[in-house]
Amino acid sequence: MAEMTWELFHQQVEMCGLCPLYQGARHKVPGQGDEHSPLMFIGEGPGQVEDEQGLAFVGPAGQLLTRMLQAISLPRDRVYICNIVKCRPPNNRVPEEAEAHQCMLHLRNQVALVKPKVIVLLGATAAKYTLGPDVRITRDRGRWFERKGVWMMPTFHPSALLRDPAKKKEAWEDMQSLRVKLMELGLYPDLYHQ
Ligand code: URA
Repeated sequence: MAEMTWELFHQQVEMCGLCPLYQGARHKVPGQGDEHSPLMFIGEGPGQVEDEQGLAFVGPAGQLLTRMLQAISLPRDRVYICNIVKCRPPNNRVPEEAEAHQCMLHLRNQVALVKPKVIVLLGATAAKYTLGPDVRITRDRGRWFERKGVWMMPTFHPSALLRDPAKKKEAWEDMQSLRVKLMELGLYPDLYHQ
């Protein structure tokens, strides 16, 4: 098999027809950011604005994510941001299991290329397909899971925070926990100071 490169990854996503979601997508949304960041964020799937622009987390949820990062002094362009599925599900429905499982091929390639030390899972869909179906976002948010040397933490999806601002307190605690984890791993000053 050919060695995976960013060029090949982007070609494969662009040409992908593994599941039917590509049929309704205006743009594929592979993900973007610092391709060698120690910190990766994984969401669910592109929404309307993301589908229009071909970029992950640029709509209202993305703007909140940017503010959450700013709150712990992380410049957004120093992290890598992507989704479980790379094409917008119709009417922003939750991706079906078959769609998510097919698209995991691309996510696995992406994780192998970025080689993050820490992954933040935004919402139930991201947690389910990375940590497993037994994870419950309300119970397990803010908990750290180590998988193959990578630290992973589920937290609320920013869209959930927009729908229910009462959740913001816990999301804030999770961001503080992320800050502590980055400091423990010696990554925080590096990310902070560029
Ligand atoms: N919601 C997501 O899960 N991902 C995006 O890119 C935008 C909104």
